[in-house]
Amino acid sequence: MTEVVVVGGYDALAEAYEWLISDAKLAPVEFASSFDDVLGVLPSNAHVLNCSCGTGQLAVGLAGRGMRVVETDASEAMVRRTAELSEKCRASVRTVRANWHELPDHFDDDTFDMVFCVDNSLHHAEGARGRVAALEAMSRLLRRGGRLVLTSRTWELVRPRGTRLDIGDRLVRRNGRNAVVVYRWDIAPNWADEHRTEIVIAQLDAAGSVLARSELLSS
Ligand SMILES: C[S@@+](CC[C@H](N)C(=O)[O-])C[C@H]1O[C@@H](n2cnc3c(N)ncnc32)[C@H](O)[C@@H]1O
Repeated sequence: MTEVVVVGGYDALAEAYEWLISDAKLAPVEFASSFDDVLGVLPSNAHVLNCSCGTGQLAVGLAGRGMRVVETDASEAMVRRTAELSEKCRASVRTVRANWHELPDHFDDDTFDMVFCVDNSLHHAEGARGRVAALEAMSRLLRRGGRLVLTSRTWELVRPRGTRLDIGDRLVRRNGRNAVVVYRWDIAPNWADEHRTEIVIAQLDAAGSVLARSELLSS
């Protein structure tokens, strides 16, 4: 029997987010190490903000290096998961729920040595204006000479493949459960138009039942 749970937004996706991230990113130390080149310029007690924190692996990795870490996200559930992981790992991390444009309401200008907005995050801002507003908010919070670390999906590679279904070719095992992950890409004709990505995480149990969670994301 297949049960299909259709959910919306990162709030709902948070519960199954680990099936979407790589083994390397699941491990806090490894996730933080992937930024060794930029982290090397910081003092050991640097004040860092990660403003789309997801489920908190980077937070724990950064705190483990002795940094003063603040984690924010628009999704309450993501912020909760970051707080839970930090507590479980005994990492000292402050968490705040905030959209990018709300960041200046929570923090003074010139507060952080480094701001992270990594993985596939910034493209969720609404259009060019939304991206500029988000970047302006991040920029205000950086100290003079501070750095913004921004990474993103390579849309130059995603777009040419057009609208399509990408079905994972391996089971992903997390928390003792296997899942198949499926992405449905809805690629708009123009760069500036809304692109949609539906993600399905189909978890299988030992008895053969399938629990499929589906979420629609907008970029
Ligand atoms: C693909 S996840 C990346 C999470 C994390 N950075 C990582 O690398 O695992 C995108 C994140 O951006 C957050 N996000 C989306 N729109 C946002 C907004 N307007 N303001 C702040 N965070 C946002 C989502 O809630 C989600 O946690």
